[in-house]
Amino acid sequence: MCKVTAIVNQKGGVGKTTTASNLGYALAYQGKKVLEIDLDPQGSLTVSLGYDDNDYINITIATLMAMAIEEEKLPDRELYIVKAGNIDLIPCNIELSAIEVSLVNAMSRELILKSIIDEIKEFYDYIIIDCSPSLGMLTINALAACDSVIIPVTPEYLSAKGLELLLKNIIRVKKRLNPKIEIDGILLTMFVERTNLSKDITEMIEVAYGGQIHIFESRVPKSVQVGYSILHNKSVIEYANKNKVSLAYKQFAQEVLERGAAN
Ligand SMILES: Nc1ncnc2c1ncn2[C@@H]1O[C@H](COP(=O)(O)OP(=O)(O)OP(=O)(O)O)[C@@H](O)[C@H]1O
Ligand SMILES: [Mg+2]
Repeated sequence: MCKVTAIVNQKGGVGKTTTASNLGYALAYQGKKVLEIDLDPQGSLTVSLGYDDNDYINITIATLMAMAIEEEKLPDRELYIVKAGNIDLIPCNIELSAIEVSLVNAMSRELILKSIIDEIKEFYDYIIIDCSPSLGMLTINALAACDSVIIPVTPEYLSAKGLELLLKNIIRVKKRLNPKIEIDGILLTMFVERTNLSKDITEMIEVAYGGQIHIFESRVPKSVQVGYSILHNKSVIEYANKNKVSLAYKQFAQEVLERGAAN
């Protein structure tokens, strides 16, 4: 059975895209069939997976969502799913920002992405959605389409208020649109073990949410190799397999698999 997971946080630059790509690769190395969907008009996931000329891609998630809004039949999946190493990708470019606007007046506007995912779910073990840093209609579509969410949080940028707003939105979606949605957990990213700030904030999250929300034991450390890997259009796992960030994401994938099996 396929599990659809959205990587969300309306805070920018917390490691959503890095988490989406590396979790995907780590799961694929474990033999899982993985599809990633780039749902951010910035297209960072698409570019980071090697499609840096993404303005020229024929069919993107924006094209598919436009068709779904018009209730047109989607093309064969071979025409829009591209390969990125051992994972599949539905790419994205800036055209998705226009879709966000047209969603406002669309019928069943929160369920457009779900209608696309429902057609291809059967071919995958995991579908990972990389969300944009906003709580707009695109992110609501991701929340309505997923089984679970993973929330990357950086110690430096943690805003307790921001996290609360995100949780409120998830609860609202659970009530109105998607009763089965679960929070897989919070993943601490860009973690510097030796700073007190990292430690204090980790403790704070644990005290504030530890009871209700799982905090993954794996923490993703900070490393310049992440920047280099993006420059080379590769995931860190492909670019620097033995790097501490790669090891952390592999351990994290293991945790995700174990939690999935336990639930
Ligand atoms: N573990 C890490 N160590 C060092 N740098 C990192 C790490 N993870 C991510 N970064 C860097 O931080 C920046 C933001 O990461 P990323 O793009 O994954 O965040 P994001 O939440 O997807 O951002 P946005 O909200 O803009 O979509 C990138 O430049 C990336 O290279
Ligand atoms: Mg991103």
